[in-house]
Amino acid sequence: MQKVLGLSFLFSCLVLLFFSRYSNRVPLILGSGLQTNDIDLVLNRKNCMETVVKIIGENIPSIQALNLSNNRLFQLNDLAELVKQAPGLKQLNLSKNELKSERELEKIKDFRLEELWLQENPMCENFHAHNLYVSAVRQRFPRLIRLDGLELPPPITFDVPSPTMLPAVKDGYFPNEEIRALIQRFIQQYISVYDSGDRQGLLNAYHENSCCSISIPNSAQNPVKSNLAEYVKDSRNIKKLKDPVMRQKLLKHSRLCIVAFLNELPNTLHDPNSFLVDVHTHMPTMLSFTLNGVFKETEGKYQGSIRAFSRVFITVPAENGGLCIVNDKLFVRMASGEEIRRAFVTPAPTPSSSPVPTLLPPQQDMLHSFSLQSGMNLEWSQKCLQDNDWDFIKAAQVFQKLQSQRSIPPEAFKK
Ligand SMILES: *[C@@H]1O[C@H](CO)[C@@H](O)[C@H](O)[C@H]1NC(C)=O
Ligand SMILES: *[C@@H]1O[C@H](CO)[C@@H](O)[C@H](O)[C@H]1NC(C)=O
Repeated sequence: MQKVLGLSFLFSCLVLLFFSRYSNRVPLILGSGLQTNDIDLVLNRKNCMETVVKIIGENIPSIQALNLSNNRLFQLNDLAELVKQAPGLKQLNLSKNELKSERELEKIKDFRLEELWLQENPMCENFHAHNLYVSAVRQRFPRLIRLDGLELPPPITFDVPSPTMLPAVKDGYFPNEEIRALIQRFIQQYISVYDSGDRQGLLNAYHENSCCSISIPNSAQNPVKSNLAEYVKDSRNIKKLKDPVMRQKLLKHSRLCIVAFLNELPNTLHDPNSFLVDVHTHMPTMLSFTLNGVFKETEGKYQGSIRAFSRVFITVPAENGGLCIVNDKLFVRMASGEEIRRAFVTPAPTPSSSPVPTLLPPQQDMLHSFSLQSGMNLEWSQKCLQDNDWDFIKAAQVFQKLQSQRSIPPEAFKK
């Protein structure tokens, strides 16, 4: 049997049905070529279309093409029934009908059509431009290859041939271990200076011509109430800030200006346990990443307030093998209840001069002499000893190695 339904075949079915079911009073039209037969079947009548659908479903469910051109169709409700009967239909001719709205196509969108004729329907006039017409049709028939006889550009589909697992969601991203170590060292050094109370030491972290800005979210409607007042005057939230002069002014430029600006921001203490790093770009000449986390303010009006932050650093390689910041964008917002609850749960190492009471007396002695010899404070000396199972010699070797690599943060020596 032929897969493409010609009119004559459909016609014969309909004539049969016509004589078996309908009275002579029903006029028949079935395409222009057949009007000479003096029999008109109006497919726009509900039971006629229902019957055609039924005939096709029972006799030729494998039909691939159907010509319904010139049948005064003004709706496609009944044709929609054909989707179940003949799911393999690929070509459909609906031209020269009375379809007024693209919504009619919605009803038959489950056909996986590759070719469709719609020309000379009133709905075609509803579009100001041809591409809008094409996209409205394609929205319903993403597999369409030809519309009104014209080839369409290849469709963009998101058909996934077989079930594909999406990659698991990760907490933070480093492309490799080397970059992880580099960034972690950078963050540790940067934050320890940043939190030290004097941010002058950050001068060397910035490139001569680097840029820096701070932004607080739009939602902070009332900055006084949201405790972010201290950041408002410097906030360069370009979604809110439309004035180009102000935009320019709030972008801190050159490392001297940046460090002077950072020095004016409230003193802070970051919670290293909250840190989450995402690397977005890494090239031999550039490394860009975002540091997310929380800090608390350690002085001033909002002392003790916990803030959440995201800090986007764009860096280039520094001469000493580390990273040199060329752009630093700091977003500060109020921390959520959950972020506040989790902040500083595990205490961050803070310089302390009192011996930790849980140590055994010989450990306390070892700690004091290690601190004396290394110059590190008790907190860091204890950390180093603990990491080396209280083996004094081993700890001293590790210390010397790290010291020669300059990878011990300055805060370790603060007493
Ligand atoms: C489809 O029907 C229209 C109108 O009756 C006719 O002009 C056209 O030739 C038909 N196409 C085919 C392939 O039969
Ligand atoms: C669809 O119908 C139109 C108008 O009747 C006709 O010009 C065109 O050739 C038909 N296309 C096919 C593929 O039958």
